[in-house]
Amino acid sequence: MSSQFDIIHKDAAGRIGKLTTPHGVVETPTVMPVINPNIQTIKPSEMRDFGAQMLITNSYIIYRKEELREKALKDGLHALLDFDGPIMTDSGSFQLSVYGDVEVTNEEIIDFQQKIGTDVGVPLDIPTPPDVTRERAEEELEITIQRLKVARELVKDGMLLAGPVQGSTFKDLREECARTLSEMEFDVYPFGAVVPLMESYRYSDLVDVIASAKKGLNPAAPVHLFGAGHPMMFALAVALGCDLFDSAAYALYAKDRRYITSRGTYHVDNLKYLPCSCPICLSHTAEELKKAHNCTELLAKHNLYVTFEEVREVKQAILEGNLLELVEQRCRSHPRMLDALKKLYTYSEWLEECDPASKSTFFYCGPESARRPEVLRFARQVENFTIQGSALIRANPTKHDNEYDNVLIFKPPFGSYPQELAEVYPLNAEVVKTPDTESLEVSYLNTIKLAKLNPDAQFTFMLQGRFEHPLLEELEALANVEVILAHNY
Ligand code: GUN
Ligand code: ZN
Repeated sequence: MSSQFDIIHKDAAGRIGKLTTPHGVVETPTVMPVINPNIQTIKPSEMRDFGAQMLITNSYIIYRKEELREKALKDGLHALLDFDGPIMTDSGSFQLSVYGDVEVTNEEIIDFQQKIGTDVGVPLDIPTPPDVTRERAEEELEITIQRLKVARELVKDGMLLAGPVQGSTFKDLREECARTLSEMEFDVYPFGAVVPLMESYRYSDLVDVIASAKKGLNPAAPVHLFGAGHPMMFALAVALGCDLFDSAAYALYAKDRRYITSRGTYHVDNLKYLPCSCPICLSHTAEELKKAHNCTELLAKHNLYVTFEEVREVKQAILEGNLLELVEQRCRSHPRMLDALKKLYTYSEWLEECDPASKSTFFYCGPESARRPEVLRFARQVENFTIQGSALIRANPTKHDNEYDNVLIFKPPFGSYPQELAEVYPLNAEVVKTPDTESLEVSYLNTIKLAKLNPDAQFTFMLQGRFEHPLLEELEALANVEVILAHNY
């Protein structure tokens, strides 16, 4: 059942992978455009032109409408949509969360999805919204798990089966649910009921939900972030280990005359310029786009182009090993995203376990970078530095420094390390000449730790004005540290 997902490259908790389905292999991370079986702004057969490899539609909508149901049962889902690549189908759970009720059982909808030839099917889970009582979250989670168990027993081969992780905003429930589902061996793990978090810009809570659920899963399992379609948050979600996304946003936003970009959304009526080079934006002025009779379709197309542009940007960043730099840039698009970035780095200990030990040059992008997993890893490495005799610490050692037994480089956001390590990742980082308080704090804490762990060594710290920080006093107070103010720099 397992091993339908091969991971090829990694960065932070993000990865490029290959998911094998009955209708072919999909390279992740990717977005599945949502197809409404009733209304199609863009035809499924055209979706590949935008970069789509896989689609998602709703089996409940097909099931409910006789004409669609009969055609799907007779000719199959792929003929119904006129798309021969992989198709995932949702179960009606979202309708359940909106209307409180659906006219289908878990068993019926699983059976139906198998019969129409879905590639990835979804049981009738209960999308418990954020902030409900713990009682309700536990009760609904129990029903969800029971239904998933039944579904797992019904589906033996052919169709891949998704096991949605629920648990509302309770981190322990999310983790426990993920652990329970892991034992049942699903093929894809969607994280459910996160749409309300995204709609209200609660990206920081979204980070908690994703990180908690990921902790309960096997790291090698493919993860789908249900209902996430705005490109602004792809880099962040991928860095946390999400592989699949679905976008109804491209069409829903277009209907509201909204124009998506990787750093946010414009109302098309406020655009004087089109900040994009997709075929739609190159062949229209903003005025023409606003007035076009098919404005919704044009906007949907633009929205899809930028969605897949961002997917490629994220994938290239994983290859280059600078996904976290991209995340830090994207998280400056909205203050709530910046909160999410800060939340992301509260999970640096966990990210560090996933992160490759060496990759492209670390770029310092702002105070949050001082909390990156690589910096945390360095802090641990300090415990292995053995320093004996005299040691000079300064930002830029010169050849005249060889009267000391040891020469150490001081480099925020890391701290002090033997100069032999200068070219080793991540110490070969590109950093700012004007370090901020956050990076100085980490660096001094690490330097204090180093001096305390080597009490017999005598440290001389050559201070430059730009390295002033309250923790300097604490460093200077140590018996084996002397601080000298360096003037001629
Ligand atoms: N679509 C958006 N969120 C959810 C969810 O939690 N479960 C299912 N099945 N579909 C969704
Ligand atoms: Zn465009």
